[in-house]
Amino acid sequence: MDFSLRRMTDSDLSTVAETEAGVFTDWYRIHRREPEGLPERTTEELRYATSFDPAGNHVAVAADGALVGFILARTWGKVGWFGTFGVPTQFHGLGIGTALVNRAVDYLTSRCSVVGLETMPESGATLGLYTKAGFAATHPTFIVELSLIREADRFRGATPDEIVSWGELSASGRSRALGEVREISDALLPGLDYSREVEAVHAHGFGKTLLCYGRGERLDGFAVLRTSPFRREDTSGRAFIHVLGIRPGASSRDVLGNLVRQLWTTATSLGLSRATAGVGTRHQTAPGLLFDNGFRAVRTAARMVLLPAIDDIFRPVDTVDISRWAG
Ligand SMILES: CC(C)(COP(=O)(O)OP(=O)(O)OC[C@H]1O[C@@H](n2cnc3c(N)ncnc32)[C@H](O)[C@@H]1OP(=O)(O)O)[C@@H](O)C(=O)NCCC(=O)NCCS
Repeated sequence: MDFSLRRMTDSDLSTVAETEAGVFTDWYRIHRREPEGLPERTTEELRYATSFDPAGNHVAVAADGALVGFILARTWGKVGWFGTFGVPTQFHGLGIGTALVNRAVDYLTSRCSVVGLETMPESGATLGLYTKAGFAATHPTFIVELSLIREADRFRGATPDEIVSWGELSASGRSRALGEVREISDALLPGLDYSREVEAVHAHGFGKTLLCYGRGERLDGFAVLRTSPFRREDTSGRAFIHVLGIRPGASSRDVLGNLVRQLWTTATSLGLSRATAGVGTRHQTAPGLLFDNGFRAVRTAARMVLLPAIDDIFRPVDTVDISRWAG
C-alpha cells in the first residue's frame, strides 16, 4: 500500500484522537480482554502533548488521503522518547509502523543522547518492531497507584497551607525554581530536563507543580501533578504524578513523604480519589519508598532505549525519578 509521512498539524488532532482510540480499543480487546471502547483523548490533551516538539510529531497518510498512522515525540532536554503511536488494525504488517518509528528516531537522535520508549510487556508486535529498530530493554517501569480514600487516615491532617506550588511563586521565584528543577533532573540523568513539563502543565491549566524546600531554601524535590483527565468521559477520579524528582543527596524518604502529603491534599480538595505514577526501577529504592507511602503496584511497562546508550541508563541507582516515557 502506498503511504507517505508528513508532520502532524493542529487540523489532524481530531482524526488522530479518533484513530488512536480505535487502535487501542482493538489492542485492549485482544490482549487484555477489555470489551469497553476506549474514549478518545481530548483535543486539549493532544495539543499539550504535541506542543513540546512540533517537528517531532508525524502522521502516515494513504494515497487517498486517509490517516493510516501517527506518532508523537517529546524531548526533555537531552532525553527523548516517542508515544503515543499506532496504526489502524486493518493496516498492520505493511511497514507503516516501522516508517513512523524511523522518522521519530531520526528526529530524537539529532537532539538527544538518550532515546527511549515504554511499551506493553505483552505486546509481541512492539517488542519485535523496537528490537529490529535498534532498541534494547532496560529496567522496567512499575505503574503504581495510591487510593486517596483508603489512605485518608495516613494523610488526614495535611493542610492546604503546607502546599508550595510553583504557579503561586513570584516571577523570580518561578525562574529560580525552574533552574533548580533543571539541576535536579540533570543530576538524576545527565542531560535530563523536566522544567518544560512544569511550565506546560501550568500553561495548559492541567494541574500544578508541588515543591519541597529543604535547608537554606534549597529545592530538594518537585512533583508535576496532573489533575485533568487525558480522555473524554473519564470519571475515574484519577490524578497523575506526571514527573517527580528528588535531589540526589537529600533525604528521599522525607522529601517523598512531603510531596505525597501535598499531593493528597491537592487531589482530594478537587474531589479526586486515586493517584497514579510510573516509577523507573533503575531507581532501585524508589518503588519501596512509594509502597511505604501507601502506593500499590498495578502492572509494569517495558522500558527500552536505543543502542548505543550511555552507561548510566543500565546502572542501578538509589535516587528517585518518577516518570513515564509514554504519551
Ligand atoms: C505497533 C504497531 C504500530 C506496528 O505497526 P505496523 O505497521 O503493523 O508495523 P510494521 O508493519 O512496520 O512492522 C511490524 C514489525 O514487527 C514484527 N513483529 C510483529 N509481531 C512480532 C512478534 N510477535 N515478535 C517479533 N516481531 C514481530 C513484524 O515482523 C514486523 O517486522 P518486519 O517488517 O521486519 O517483518 C501496530 O501493531 C499497532 O498500532 N499496535 C497497537 C498499538 C500499539 O501497540 N502502539 C504502540 C504502543 S508502545
